Amino acid sequence: MANLDVTLHYSGINFPGHLHSEQSMRFAEEFKFHETDTLIVTYPKSGTTWMQEILTLIYSDGNQTPAKTIPNWIRTPWIEHYYCEDILQDKLDHRIITTHLPYHMLSKSLKQSNAKVIYIARNPMDIIVSFYHFHKIANFLPEPGTFEEFLENFLLGEVHFGSWFEHIKDWLSHREEFNFLFITYEELKKDLQYSVKKICNFLERPLLPETIDTIVQHCNFTNMKDNQMTNYTLVPNEIMDHRRGKFMRKGTVGDWKEHFTDEQKQRFEKMFQDKMSDCNIQFTWTL
Ligand code: A3P
Repeated sequence: MANLDVTLHYSGINFPGHLHSEQSMRFAEEFKFHETDTLIVTYPKSGTTWMQEILTLIYSDGNQTPAKTIPNWIRTPWIEHYYCEDILQDKLDHRIITTHLPYHMLSKSLKQSNAKVIYIARNPMDIIVSFYHFHKIANFLPEPGTFEEFLENFLLGEVHFGSWFEHIKDWLSHREEFNFLFITYEELKKDLQYSVKKICNFLERPLLPETIDTIVQHCNFTNMKDNQMTNYTLVPNEIMDHRRGKFMRKGTVGDWKEHFTDEQKQRFEKMFQDKMSDCNIQFTWTL
């Protein structure tokens, strides 16, 4: 597989070069969204795959066949990945599109549409842990070094996909510009049934209670961990080394407590206060 060691530096951010190119980034920036599109926006490791699965099931009215037969990256492609153009060209309605891109790269094209935008956030300390482990299996990302080194790079915004702080602040401070739903990984974890209903309301897709039950059951961690279409085991070891860890790793809230020392927690909290002081949103990261 080509380009695993290549990094694309675009708009001030590093991206894995095997999936992103100058051309695919321009495609994303100039993309014509449809009214019926739903865009999932996340910083990596925030629950992207989970939301892709939930939306797939909502738009199939609970029919599990698409989710069990088509890989998530085909049915809910990342707009910035080089293959997205080919996948989307034949689809007109109810396209589920995913992105990790920052606000400033998509704002122009999104503002010209009334597409629905769902932003999922997660406790950044749990993201750091999840991202650190993901770096160990993803051969298209740099070696993470020690947890201490990775944490430092993350806090400085020097990891691939850029700064978490900038990503969430930029998107949330412009939420009024879009048809926007903000939801957290922790909310999904706390009450998936309630969260699915909330998402259905936002999408104006009312579903029968038994359909909601099917979705909740299908989208629990154990079932998604066993689903080849969501657990990334279809990706060869050369790209994602499944011998070194699993994509569906733990799926829990608060795993940071197993990884952070007291000093690291204090360092994180100080950085969080400094960086987020101009953000007026109260986050609840506990269950
Ligand atoms: P962990 O590494 O903490 O286990 P993304 O899809 O944005 O890359 O996020 C991946 C993270 O979401 C992983 O976290 C993964 O286990 C978790 N995840 C995926 N599906 C989930 C589900 N159904 N329930 C809970 N967590 C899930």
